[in-house]
Amino acid sequence: MSRGPGRIERAIADAFKANPRRALGVEELARIAYPGLAEVEKRHRVAIIRAADSVARGMGWRRLGGGPGVPLAYRGPAAENPRPLALDLFCGAGGASMGLHRAGYDVIGVDLFPQPRYPFPFFQADALRPPFDLRRFSLIWASPPCQAHTALKTMHNAREHANLIPATRAMLRASGVPYVIENVVGAPLIHPIRLCGTMFGLGVDDADAELRRHRLFETSFPALPLKCRHGAADVLGVYGGHVRNRRRRTIGVYGEGCRDSRRKGDKGVPDFSIEQGRAAMDIDWMTTAELSQAIPPDYAEYLGIFARIMARN
Ligand SMILES: C[S@@+](CC[C@H](N)C(=O)[O-])C[C@H]1O[C@@H](n2cnc3c(N)ncnc32)[C@H](O)[C@@H]1O
Repeated sequence: MSRGPGRIERAIADAFKANPRRALGVEELARIAYPGLAEVEKRHRVAIIRAADSVARGMGWRRLGGGPGVPLAYRGPAAENPRPLALDLFCGAGGASMGLHRAGYDVIGVDLFPQPRYPFPFFQADALRPPFDLRRFSLIWASPPCQAHTALKTMHNAREHANLIPATRAMLRASGVPYVIENVVGAPLIHPIRLCGTMFGLGVDDADAELRRHRLFETSFPALPLKCRHGAADVLGVYGGHVRNRRRRTIGVYGEGCRDSRRKGDKGVPDFSIEQGRAAMDIDWMTTAELSQAIPPDYAEYLGIFARIMARN
């Protein structure tokens, strides 16, 4: 007697049905098929791949593989109009990836360290030796570590940090694929454009705080610069017999927590909660440490849209 599809197959089939235009990674499928799982182990991956292969055949989904025999993800049958594929090198927990996803890309991330909260198909590898043919991608995003270029580099106990930007640029240029290299202000990028949270209205309304998070982006394609709108939404308060201009606060999301960047003095207690930090960045899946390394998805969405327009012309 045939027992029909099991629980894992049914969960995967439901996920495939609900997302015909997306790529679903093995990790993501494991979290759907095993709700509440703390960590996806090898045995879960093996079970997912076996079940997903079988469901994919019946539903017209395709494997979106890394190297030979390495299934990374499964792509839906909206294949006549497939989403272009972007590679996010040095992806961290995926702030930039989320923006590229919103701009219409399927995204694969690469990072040297495990990224359990990364929301798309993920590969743990050295970004300067990615296990892919780079020419398969429509766009490559790279966010090499910024410690070599921040104020911390001048501290007396600063560690030596390699500047990975030149090697990254050389690799991306050699691929011929449109690219973006992201880094902090002060990094040696070529003709970068600067983006800031205030350009996208980012901040926390209930704390009357705006996100001034400047980052530089070197793009291999033209993109329109924008202007910061610091303090654009000063709040007029009428109380206590006075009309006050309550200057907006600035929320800074750093390694030590979410702080008011204009407040001097005691650095002991964060000024904002992690929830406020997440709201300001428009990222709801990261820890404070991951958030402090990330860019708001809006920045990558903005540039991803330019890359798509340029690809059409
Ligand atoms: C600035 S964070 C990236 C943040 C990400 N763009 C975001 O928006 O969430 C830089 C990342 O580079 C990773 N990294 C450092 N050296 C690397 C290497 N050689 N290969 C791959 N990843 C590396 C770090 O683990 C870190 O997650």
